[in-house]
Amino acid sequence: MSDASVCFVCLGNICRSPTAEGVFRGFVASLGRDDDFVVDSAGTEAWHVGEPADKRARAAASRRGYELTSRARQVRADDFERFDLVVAMDNDNLAELRALAPPGLAARKLRLLRSFEPDGPKGEVPDPYYGGDAGFVTVIDMCERAARGIVEYLDGDPRND
Ligand code: 4NP
Repeated sequence: MSDASVCFVCLGNICRSPTAEGVFRGFVASLGRDDDFVVDSAGTEAWHVGEPADKRARAAASRRGYELTSRARQVRADDFERFDLVVAMDNDNLAELRALAPPGLAARKLRLLRSFEPDGPKGEVPDPYYGGDAGFVTVIDMCERAARGIVEYLDGDPRND
């Protein structure tokens, strides 16, 4: 099986998508499957390119046993060629990514993170940037609930055979 690949995308690539990347890396490591997945993250905007994840995001993740090691980068159209799955955090990210994606690829590869949660209300991952520490914990909770569904989706994708 070739490696399955996923890129998580938010606005700045310093809060939500680095958290999603770190939580997903932690989940596949807990399955003993680190080597089966290529995991990355990016932002729709270039404001924070080169920066590590927000220190509040790193602190919240660390308290839950995750290390966030990413450096911010801006998403590119060819990420839709490079990755099997592109996971947006909110509807604004989704709209930006739809506009960026080469024809046909958004419909095949673009999903909202919360669509992978097993049950309960779906919707967006709220932006924690302007809020308090609790918002960062909420992001981690949502990423943890979605992780298994993302693995199952990628395992079921015939392109990864
Ligand atoms: P993120 O959060 O999209 O989850 O990384 C944000 C990061 C930075 C800004 C907004 C949201 N900002 O305005 O700089």
